[in-house]
Amino acid sequence: MCVRAHEAGALHGNDASPTWLPYPDDVNALIPGLWSRQTTREESGQMSFGGVPARDLLANHGSPLLVVDEADFRSRAREFKNEFAAAFAPLNGASIFYAGKAFLCTSVVRWVREEGLNLDVCTGGELAVAKAAAMPGAQIAFHGNNKSDQEIRAALEYGVGRLVIDSLEEIDRVADIAAALGVQAPVMLRVTAGVEAHTHEFIATAHEDQKFGLSLTGGVADEAVRLVLERSELNLLGVHSHIGSQIFDVGGFEIAARRVIDLLVRVREEHGVVLPELDLGGGFGVMYNTQHAPKTPAELAPLLAEIVREQCGDFPYPHLSFEPGRAIVGPAGTTLYTVGTVKNVQVSGAHKRLYVSVDGGMSDNIRTALYDADYSCLLASRTSPVDPAVVRIVGKHCESGDIVVKDEYLPADVHRGDIVAVPVTGAYCYSLASNYNHVPRPAVVSVGQGESRLMVRRESEADLLALDAGVSESVREAR
Ligand SMILES: Cc1ncc(COP(=O)(O)O)c(C=O)c1O
Repeated sequence: MCVRAHEAGALHGNDASPTWLPYPDDVNALIPGLWSRQTTREESGQMSFGGVPARDLLANHGSPLLVVDEADFRSRAREFKNEFAAAFAPLNGASIFYAGKAFLCTSVVRWVREEGLNLDVCTGGELAVAKAAAMPGAQIAFHGNNKSDQEIRAALEYGVGRLVIDSLEEIDRVADIAAALGVQAPVMLRVTAGVEAHTHEFIATAHEDQKFGLSLTGGVADEAVRLVLERSELNLLGVHSHIGSQIFDVGGFEIAARRVIDLLVRVREEHGVVLPELDLGGGFGVMYNTQHAPKTPAELAPLLAEIVREQCGDFPYPHLSFEPGRAIVGPAGTTLYTVGTVKNVQVSGAHKRLYVSVDGGMSDNIRTALYDADYSCLLASRTSPVDPAVVRIVGKHCESGDIVVKDEYLPADVHRGDIVAVPVTGAYCYSLASNYNHVPRPAVVSVGQGESRLMVRRESEADLLALDAGVSESVREAR
């Protein structure tokens, strides 16, 4: 039998908590840095978000609910823009592209536009959202490893500022579509730098066993440059590299920057062309729990600027771009759930775990099941004087892997009707949401200055049936 030691000593050794999870001094307290910036606990004991109490949010918008702190999003977007602009000013400047895949709707596009950032999209659907919110084409980068002709045409017709080519076969397709439209397509080449970075680790490898980009090893990226330069319908702006996600260590960026700048140097030698742009992608980590200590934009920007300065040597500094998604929207989002069934389960020997079922789950947050993510949570509707117990927050889906929060301490008297808040759910939760078990997707609201505003309405059963061609008109009308 495996008996785990507990950081807080033998007294707490009988629960089923992982060793990294600290026993809380105060199970009702907000851990600094973990919650969106306008989150507080009121004197009544309720948590409030942007000045709106948790119970009011659910009473007005239903449960579960994704709550996005607008001021938090805007301030993080601004910090990236300003800190990177300042750090790269002595080089050749830097632009920030918000990665829409993290979470996109027209309100978010508007915030991005108003804060002076650019936008990264990777499908025709994301481009449609950008267009619906009047994001200027020149401020959009269009990615994708398998773009359809329609997507390429839509991007060029809208006048995107850069189309990021991902494969050799795409080069002629983009050039032919640009020729048919009578435009010159501004393009970048996504290269695979042979660096895989996740969390605290990165691996630098010789080969790149993945679907994205043009390999630097074996000369595929060099061949792509040659092919692009041969087509007058294409204007090659530069190269792009994205090395991974939830990264805390800039070492991976250093190796990637060295390898892509080497390519820029070879392009100058072989073609006499100095490419003006370099995009080092996104992937900056966030704090999902006490294990994570992300760097702020003010800390990251000078480190990355120094890397670029060093790797360029006497090569003219390109204009840099970065594409943070998670680090802007992740911490701004909190999911509120209502507690249903609570079960105390004997897991092994003396170990017990309190299973707390909520009214959402893997359909609104698949990250725990998909990436083994470790989330945290708090009781949002009240405080409790009762001792903490280790809980597992699970959803309502017909799947034992339907877990939202694997391990956290909550007051042991957590019960039906309580509200549980899960922080840092702004990124890759709603954008990866599904209708599994025909559970409608939750509403998304923004909060600030004591008010909440609907960003995306809750799906209804009628929405779920709307695509079902077998539903007769009479049934549809009766609903
Ligand atoms: C090309 C590219 N840019 C930016 C991002 C955003 O990454 P993150 O949200 O981790 O910053 C991704 C994420 O997959 C990506 O593939």
